[in-house]
Amino acid sequence: MTLEKILGLAPVIPVLIIDDISQAVPLGRALVAGGLPVLEVTLRTPVALQCIERMAGEIEGAVVGAGTVLTPALRLACAHAGAQFCVSPGLIEGETDEGPTPLLPGIATATELMAGLSAGFSFFKLFPANIAGGIDALKAFASPFQQARFCPTGGVSARNAADYLALPNVVCVGGSWVAPAEAVKAGDWDRITALARGARALAPTRD
Ligand code: 3PG
Repeated sequence: MTLEKILGLAPVIPVLIIDDISQAVPLGRALVAGGLPVLEVTLRTPVALQCIERMAGEIEGAVVGAGTVLTPALRLACAHAGAQFCVSPGLIEGETDEGPTPLLPGIATATELMAGLSAGFSFFKLFPANIAGGIDALKAFASPFQQARFCPTGGVSARNAADYLALPNVVCVGGSWVAPAEAVKAGDWDRITALARGARALAPTRD
């Protein structure tokens, strides 16, 4: 699946930090049940790759990707684990739009955006969105960088997500608010499904 197709599946990509592998599948199922099929499992815990493998194999309807992908080697490892896409907080030196799995690189400035466009990318994570200028930055990027599309992430929440999603150069947003750490720890899957439903309702279906 192309990045364009994946990013168009839902208005919000949950950014997940999973400490306990037994939580991976129920957490993913709770989010998919709420209408958020695109899941970003960050490589911030020792079990992250195993979680990706398990979620990709066991959750019907999920599109499982990896986040916090910092090196070419990790991009490759994620592809081998079954990740359908990768997200990075920045540009990975030497990596292009061609590669073992689609990559959504992070940018925070015009110069980084230009480097990303030169590497063949047209979809970018604005990160950290709230610090890198947020909605004003995305509006300012729209005219000089008409080919660029964004998934702002970092400081995006139920409070401001709709404002981001209303921008023509925003395809979706990323955020952790749909899977709060305490709800994951407690296995409160109903709460997570409810949060996902609320996030899904933020924007019309873009399938
Ligand atoms: C992250 O890297 O943790 C993501 O950008 C999520 O940020 P958030 O917790 O502000 O949603």
